[in-house]
Amino acid sequence: MSLHVRPLRASEFLQWRDLRLRALRESPDAFGSRYEDQVQWPLARWQERAAALAAGDTQMMFVAETGDGQLAGCAGAHVQSDGDPMVISMWTAPERRRQGVARRLLDALADWGRGRGARRLTLWVVRGNRSATQLYLSCGFRSTQVSVTNEHGHVEDELSLEL
Ligand SMILES: CC(C)(COP(=O)(O)OP(=O)(O)OC[C@H]1O[C@@H](n2cnc3c(N)ncnc32)[C@H](O)[C@@H]1OP(=O)(O)O)[C@@H](O)C(=O)NCCC(=O)NCCS
Repeated sequence: MSLHVRPLRASEFLQWRDLRLRALRESPDAFGSRYEDQVQWPLARWQERAAALAAGDTQMMFVAETGDGQLAGCAGAHVQSDGDPMVISMWTAPERRRQGVARRLLDALADWGRGRGARRLTLWVVRGNRSATQLYLSCGFRSTQVSVTNEHGHVEDELSLEL
């Protein structure tokens, strides 16, 4: 499988919208955002969002591009006040799963974090999301023993990876 992991470009806001809406519709319980809300965003908002992510300053988004130019996955990060990035929006298109796409996206995020001098990557995973939890553990993330109940009533566990 030909696959290129690279930062999202500001000019790709339409592809970014399609990818993100597909992820929210396909995995409604995996994310804090809701398809029903974001499907109503005007294009200008997607354009602003893609531009902010592409700037790579306090936010970052890596995408996995297939040989035919389609975006088949993404993983991003928000830089927190302590300078360490929090992983967001981890998703692989169903037809591309179990082919190492998510692992490559996380590797790219870890390299990017190291390049900024970050100490660790953190993230929240909904308890019971077995595939995501297995992914993170297999990539070296470990539980911080911190959990919260999110606004949708799901328990989320915090995991972190030392860089
Ligand atoms: C979780 C998710 C991102 C994994 O993406 P992926 O590209 O299929 O993952 P990879 O192929 O890189 O898998 C790497 C490792 O993760 C683990 N893993 C991934 N999917 C798994 C599954 N369904 N069951 C068990 N382990 C799994 C395995 O250890 C795997 O290595 P292996 O294939 O050599 O056994 C994908 O299933 C997804 O998009 N799920 C819905 C959205 C989601 O839950 N996002 C996370 C929000 S916190």
